[in-house]
Amino acid sequence: MVRKPRETFNSRMGMLLAMAGSAIGLGNIWRFPYMMGKNGGAAFILIYVIMLVVLCLPVMVSEYLIGRRGGSNPFSSFDRLAPGSKWRWIGFLAVLASACILSFYCVVGGWSVRYLAESLTLSFSDAQNDYVANFGTFISSPFKPLLYTLIFLGLTGLIIIFGVRKGIERMSKIMITVLFVIIVLVVIRALTLPGAFEGVRYMFVPDFSKVTAQTCISAMGQAFFSLSIGCGTILTYASYVSKEENILASSAWISFFDTVFALIAGLAIIPAVYAIAYMNGVAPDVSAGPGLVFITLPGVFSQMPLGNLAAILFFLALLLAAITSSISLMEVVVAFIIEEMHRSRTKAVLLSFVICGVVGVFCSLSFGPLSGFKLFGLSVFDFFDYITSNIMLPVGGVLLTVFAGWRLKRANYLDELTNGGKLKIPRWICLTIYYLVKCVAPIGIMLIFLNSFFS
Ligand code: PHE
Repeated sequence: MVRKPRETFNSRMGMLLAMAGSAIGLGNIWRFPYMMGKNGGAAFILIYVIMLVVLCLPVMVSEYLIGRRGGSNPFSSFDRLAPGSKWRWIGFLAVLASACILSFYCVVGGWSVRYLAESLTLSFSDAQNDYVANFGTFISSPFKPLLYTLIFLGLTGLIIIFGVRKGIERMSKIMITVLFVIIVLVVIRALTLPGAFEGVRYMFVPDFSKVTAQTCISAMGQAFFSLSIGCGTILTYASYVSKEENILASSAWISFFDTVFALIAGLAIIPAVYAIAYMNGVAPDVSAGPGLVFITLPGVFSQMPLGNLAAILFFLALLLAAITSSISLMEVVVAFIIEEMHRSRTKAVLLSFVICGVVGVFCSLSFGPLSGFKLFGLSVFDFFDYITSNIMLPVGGVLLTVFAGWRLKRANYLDELTNGGKLKIPRWICLTIYYLVKCVAPIGIMLIFLNSFFS
């Protein structure tokens, strides 16, 4: 059988937006603001940025480099760079991690579909509604959330069927652009509410009293999750990238976009929560955890002028962000099935849909009928969330950097960074990154990781 040549991204912009689309997701809008709320606002941002530069950027560069040089799915990429060795099982672990993340991610993606649908029926204009009960009843009911989870997963699959250029690249370009415009509108609405400024102050004046060892662990986990590193998504996308791209510049851009977007999402949420609390004369609660977006915000929208419009825009933004990330997760699994199991793209998408859909259904049911069923003391949803963000991604990060730093030859490494000497990147920058990859990142990640187990 003659295999079709592998697809590549069509343009640099398309590639950057697809990768940024993978990074920008629920992690930025749903998770970052409440993590920041819990961990001392700006103090958390500061620690997050340090983790990002010292530990996460090296992982991203390694993943990018392995993907571009290997030119295949994670399993084969490792195999091509270290033929016949056990390293390819790291690639397999990455595929597994992506499937696990997608399985719980699609549940929250499903919630955003439902909240968008609700906002379109003007449900968030009634300040008397009980949004806590509304959310609780919805996620614990046996059928509705399953339906939304599968709709979300179906939309993801539908985009992927069209392939890298016509599906992933084209849709990411459109969705990320729309997403930026929308979120800026929501920020403007939030910042023009009376009392919003206190929320901005909260975000940018650090409170170090809330910083503990746990803050560092949370910041690292959040950075890994938010940048989509450690589970083969960047690797898989990088395998569709041409040899002319600048690995270092692309990685830096993606990290920068992702962080700026997380801050913008924070500005859309935290000041609004402060403003409405101020209006009601109560203390603002920005540490509400996962409920911040689905419970606190609908309440906030219902009380602000033009609130329902803001709700529609906000939940549309949430959905777009979630989809551009879920397509990157599914593509890891799909590329693996196409290339290792020799199936067509359509069949690979169907298979991924079924696998992640079945696990996703269990994750969703763990908020309702299966809430009594525990794995290591955690509900199915929490179990997948925990083992991926706190174990699989950091372990993946360590293995990726160890591979790039120790198994690949230094000359090959520098050759990739400079595209065979064509890019004039100062040598000291290349060497700094090299030693960050070789020593600092694996040791740093391991120390924080072990600390989280023994503290
Ligand atoms: N980065 C995505 C987000 O912030 C989630 C994700 C994690 C996507 C890992 C791909 C891989 O929502």
